[in-house]
Amino acid sequence: MTRSNLQITTPSDVSAGEVARAVTGASAEDAAKAEHLGVAASDRAPCCMDREPVVCTEHLTVQYGGQTAMRDVTMPIYRGCITGIVGPSGCGKSTFLNCLNRMTDMTEGCRVSGRVLIDGGDINHGTVNLLALRRRVGMIFQKPNPFPLSIRKNLTFPLKEHGVRSGSQRESLMTTALQQVGLWEEVKDRLDAPALGLSGGQQQRLCLARALVLEPDVVLLDEPCSALDPIASGVVEDLIDSLRGRYTVIIVTHNLAHARRLADDVAVFWLEEGAGTVIERGPAEQVFTAPRHPATAAYVEGRRG
Ligand SMILES: Nc1ncnc2c1ncn2[C@@H]1O[C@H](COP(=O)(O)OP(=O)(O)O)[C@@H](O)[C@H]1O
Ligand SMILES: [Mg+2]
Repeated sequence: MTRSNLQITTPSDVSAGEVARAVTGASAEDAAKAEHLGVAASDRAPCCMDREPVVCTEHLTVQYGGQTAMRDVTMPIYRGCITGIVGPSGCGKSTFLNCLNRMTDMTEGCRVSGRVLIDGGDINHGTVNLLALRRRVGMIFQKPNPFPLSIRKNLTFPLKEHGVRSGSQRESLMTTALQQVGLWEEVKDRLDAPALGLSGGQQQRLCLARALVLEPDVVLLDEPCSALDPIASGVVEDLIDSLRGRYTVIIVTHNLAHARRLADDVAVFWLEEGAGTVIERGPAEQVFTAPRHPATAAYVEGRRG
């Protein structure tokens, strides 16, 4: 499997009619998994101690149809860390994520200026292989969007499409990815059943497996728990927690408790002069307990936002 011919499969690869609608009921398996996966914040392995930036944005600005939506975001994202992106709705959080794997290319009238560097390379440079970029920077959306295919094919299809020719290798990678997201025991006896028959939480874990099976470096999650019930949300949250250290995770959430539990670093997006920008960034503990910006203080205390 070579990097250059791989691509993280995104909803754009499937027609709107094909994309699954989320089913938000928690299953008994989700509830059992919540118990099984429970990880207290204090049990976290130390990570990102070397503070090596993997993604770095420089003066990143985005316009839609000439209207500035996000302005001047300069931010390093550290390898192996979970970086939480928080802030009120409409302040550019999804836009920021979409810049990091050039999902913005697919929006007509969207103009990006400034730079996004991954391991020092500018992802907007003309020679960048978009397929390889999307493989390297995987993305999970708010609503689980498995393909309307079997559980097995949700994983083997992207592998096949992106260069893994051996059927037995595809099966083995599929098994590992399902184990990684804690789904294997739940689905191993019904791999050929439709993925859309899974509960919402299971579908979201399957989508995460679909991203992880292609071995990304960076995983972008845009409010991955907000369409799930509390039990399924807890399972997915614990799973994201388990990615710490192995992947660089950037997660947008408007659930501050969620960000506080999960994130090593937090960036607070806010509307300033009509466009979203970062008003505060730092270790989660500092942002939540000793915010520097008055708007952050009001936001984390629940007075604004
Ligand atoms: N495809 C689009 N076309 C036009 N405007 C958009 C588009 N996507 C987002 N916007 C605008 O950009 C701003 C930031 O949106 P978004 O990044 O979705 O914010 P958030 O994720 O923080 O809610 C909003 O004003 C939104 O209306
Ligand atoms: Mg958003």
